[in-house]
Amino acid sequence: MYEKLLSPAKVGPWELANRVVMPPLTRSRADGEWVPNARAAEYYGQRSSAGLIICEATQISPDATGYPRTPGIWSAGQTAGWKTVVDAIHAGGAKAVIQLWHCGRVSHPDNQPDGRQPMAPSAVKADKQVWSDKAGGLVSVPMPRAMTEEDIRDVIASHRKACENALAAGFDGVELHGANGYLIDQFASSNTNLRSDGWGGTREKRMRFMEEVLRAAISVYPKDCVGIRLAPYGTFNTIDDDDALAKYKAMLAAAEKLGLGYVHIIRPIVSGNMQVGASPLDRAAIEIARELFSGTIIGVGGYDAASAEDDLQAGRIDLVAFGRAFVGNPDLVRRIREGIALAESDPTTWYAAGDAGYIDYPPAG
Ligand SMILES: Cc1cc2nc3c(=O)[nH]c(=O)nc-3n(C[C@H](O)[C@H](O)[C@H](O)COP(=O)(O)O)c2cc1C
Repeated sequence: MYEKLLSPAKVGPWELANRVVMPPLTRSRADGEWVPNARAAEYYGQRSSAGLIICEATQISPDATGYPRTPGIWSAGQTAGWKTVVDAIHAGGAKAVIQLWHCGRVSHPDNQPDGRQPMAPSAVKADKQVWSDKAGGLVSVPMPRAMTEEDIRDVIASHRKACENALAAGFDGVELHGANGYLIDQFASSNTNLRSDGWGGTREKRMRFMEEVLRAAISVYPKDCVGIRLAPYGTFNTIDDDDALAKYKAMLAAAEKLGLGYVHIIRPIVSGNMQVGASPLDRAAIEIARELFSGTIIGVGGYDAASAEDDLQAGRIDLVAFGRAFVGNPDLVRRIREGIALAESDPTTWYAAGDAGYIDYPPAG
């Protein structure tokens, strides 16, 4: 059963114990200064029988913050916190990658460390609400200000610094968040990037930000230790490109050109953290990735062990990530191996503060 899923894999320089990946899962449990704490090390350590753990979306700079209590990796304190997380992951045998993000327009002054107005490629508001601890409820995101050339250069430099900190914390690699309507996706998409300078106006120029950020990452890490997450046809956070297929192909082509280690493809069956129903595009999205990208492909979105094994056996993907299942099942790999039923997680504690629904899901038996 699930022979391929549970078999070791070699990805660039990494020897993975199995093909099960824990994908980035925002849990909103960081301490006051956006620092991952001892509970985070425990949480990730509990899940370290995965072959690869990609830690939750993490801000590259203070102004990258979009939501409450999400961790950063711009300061020494945060980097030290991450080191304890990485040590716990390595102690369990998994490789550790960190997902880096800048939320761009998907933010609110309440959630910015210094109450700033969020910035984005262009002044185009998202139709979106985010949680504010200050307001004690959901707040609509405001109109962002359009980034200046200097802002863009700063954000690229902050990505480089974040990668240096990730390396210092011991991460085996980094994943750029190119999906779900955050800053890279905002630059890449026609409805959020209305610029007419060197960073927008044509498909090629809209791709430039992603490429420059990736170049910053591969100036720190070997290129086969860098991946990018993509959401083909994704509309989460009110992304609406005028040619979503062309955008997806351009992103894959950039990943191929720069020689990245992996692409992490979110099947259109999910949007953000929600299942939205199977689509004929699910299979096509993965096939296009295989066609245009020669490195490792991680598939994610609505998989169970059986469908994961099918896609691995057919050679459509190389590794499979299980998102919601990893929240409630720290021992997911053992449950798959022994055919033990999976526990459901409680969505009301996905992003809540506190230990409940975080480090208290028990292993089976
Ligand atoms: C609680 C929660 C937090 C998430 N946080 C992130 C995140 O930080 N970055 C990201 O790219 N995706 C995030 N996602 C999406 C998951 O990584 C994954 O793509 C999604 O859950 C679909 O996989 P699944 O069907 O196996 O759950 C999150 C999903 C959930 C449920």
